[in-house]
Amino acid sequence: MATLGDPIRVDAGGWGWTWVGDDRGRLRQVGVGPGGHRSEVEVDPHWYPDAFPTAGTDALRPPALRVTHADGTLTTRLVVRDVAHPEADHLVVRCVDELFPFSVEHHVRTHVVSGVAEQWSEIHHTEDGPVTLADYDSIAPFLLVDHAATATQFGGSGWADEWAWTTETLGPGTKVLDSLGGVQPHLQRSPCLLVEPDGPAGESSGQVIALSIAWGGNTRFALDVRARAWAGSPRELRLRAGANPAGAPYVLDPGRRFVTPTVAWIWTDRGRAAATAAFHRWTCDRVIRDPERRRPIVVNNWEATFFDFDEERLVGLVEHSADLGADLFLLDDGWFGTSDPRDDDTAGLGDWEIDRRKLPDGLAPVIAAATERGMRFGLWLEPEMVNPASDLYRSHPDWIVRNGRGPLEHRNQFVLDPLRPEVRDFILGVFDRTLTANPDVSYVKWDANRPITDPGSATLGSDRQANIWVDHVHATWEVMAEVARRHPGVELMACASGGGRNDHGTLRWFHEFWTSDNTDPLARVRMQWACSHFFPALVMAAHVTRWGDRPLEFACAVALSGRFGIDLDLAALSAQETDTCRRAIELARRTQDLVQFGYLTRLVSPLDGTGGERAALAYCSPDRRRAVVFAYQLEDSTTEGP
Ligand code: GLA
Repeated sequence: MATLGDPIRVDAGGWGWTWVGDDRGRLRQVGVGPGGHRSEVEVDPHWYPDAFPTAGTDALRPPALRVTHADGTLTTRLVVRDVAHPEADHLVVRCVDELFPFSVEHHVRTHVVSGVAEQWSEIHHTEDGPVTLADYDSIAPFLLVDHAATATQFGGSGWADEWAWTTETLGPGTKVLDSLGGVQPHLQRSPCLLVEPDGPAGESSGQVIALSIAWGGNTRFALDVRARAWAGSPRELRLRAGANPAGAPYVLDPGRRFVTPTVAWIWTDRGRAAATAAFHRWTCDRVIRDPERRRPIVVNNWEATFFDFDEERLVGLVEHSADLGADLFLLDDGWFGTSDPRDDDTAGLGDWEIDRRKLPDGLAPVIAAATERGMRFGLWLEPEMVNPASDLYRSHPDWIVRNGRGPLEHRNQFVLDPLRPEVRDFILGVFDRTLTANPDVSYVKWDANRPITDPGSATLGSDRQANIWVDHVHATWEVMAEVARRHPGVELMACASGGGRNDHGTLRWFHEFWTSDNTDPLARVRMQWACSHFFPALVMAAHVTRWGDRPLEFACAVALSGRFGIDLDLAALSAQETDTCRRAIELARRTQDLVQFGYLTRLVSPLDGTGGERAALAYCSPDRRRAVVFAYQLEDSTTEGP
């Protein structure tokens, strides 16, 4: 254990930070960034900025932590109590309030192989009654940045517009980049951010701070920029990141522990490629399941059939998939619903019994068609949701997320309330029953297709209904963790109306995610380019479809740069198109080691402002002896096409 008053150094592998307690015990940030872990304490510590400002330490700046204490006190003043290393790579700085039995532990876990630091806080108290957390950021470093400093966010218009790249120069004021809706917030804005404190960086040079909030719910980045009085001096940036507290004050009982989301971040002076390599390494080492397992070549029936299929049609698609050389056939939405058959999205969700009109002998003949041809089989589930037109809802109308008001429908469905133990059991039961009845199902696409519109839970007291925004994530993760534990051999894809669950928190129980329902290859080049800054290609599912009506070769070439799959009506392809798909699958098999396990090099950017009419990227083998290069000509869709 370090001595109080000593500098507290975090070395995340070439970069990091130094904290120190001042004469009153307040935690101060001496330096942060490349070499920041070696910063010397050169002036009296109280001159350094707060490491984690709380309401009550600086009235003129937004705090990272704002609490109403049990007696109504609105300020929190923390002093360092102890510094511990529970493990070599895990630092805990415990601070306690000067007045109340209220503590905040700052946790840091370093992953020096990649250079990514994981940071979160744990809040605990034994006050006389509950306290209310109004702001609860995970990190709040203080930076000096150039006037040209930029922030790049990945927020689009919602469905089918994930990972839209927007770079802005940071001006004075507080810029909030947040997301709402609870279940699929990453559809609006990815919980990832690039900050370039000296102005736009290049692939191989320049200062880059890359951050990812590992949280399956609403998130918030807040960038508070202050000009300094004297000309030419850098600006101050307080960068806060964590769960979005908007509409979500959290009531915390004495003796309970509130753990903020982990924020994973890196600061490099070697450009975007270095930040990307770090995130890819860390994602494989610390986040995803079975990182060394080659992801399958998938044929999905969604865009081919939507809800309109029967056994004969599916078996036909399976046979075509096997003939082309695919690894796995994924049966999407529409295979279930008995009293309320799932012929569209208005009915059947929640009733996970096979629709015998479409599949009179169940799934067995379709699965057998795959396994007899050496293919694996996957199934779509949306276990957290229910249509009002379902036996489940008629039996358990009280199981949904709602408050005193009649709840809104969205995509004709409601969200089941995972804070209820019986709902968690139900979801686990859906997996257990489906996978036990069909032991050859070795892959599940886990979908979630609506946000929370009517927050509230009967399991929470009337004084803490807003806790649902945080508790919903933990309860959902508890179920996901248990599914992964009970069914370790089943690969899981995270999907939420497309890319609504593209986050490093949820991904811990999954093998990959659906990047977007938008599979127009022209749009996908840019989406996958943006997404590649934080996620490796082996988690980024990319399927060939008819979206955008592009040439099939181009659609294949774009999907081949991710976890390759095909979502076409294979029975309706021309001989030439069949040949294109066959060659694409052969190419996927030849290149997937490089794409899934190689090093990404981004060569030519497709983003507006950098030309935008071309894109090129490459994946190299770890020994740098083999590479696959993807080069795309991107014309405007109104002209001749790519
Ligand atoms: C969501 C998913 C799609 C598909 C449909 C099925 O929109 O993102 O890929 O699975 O649901 O209803």
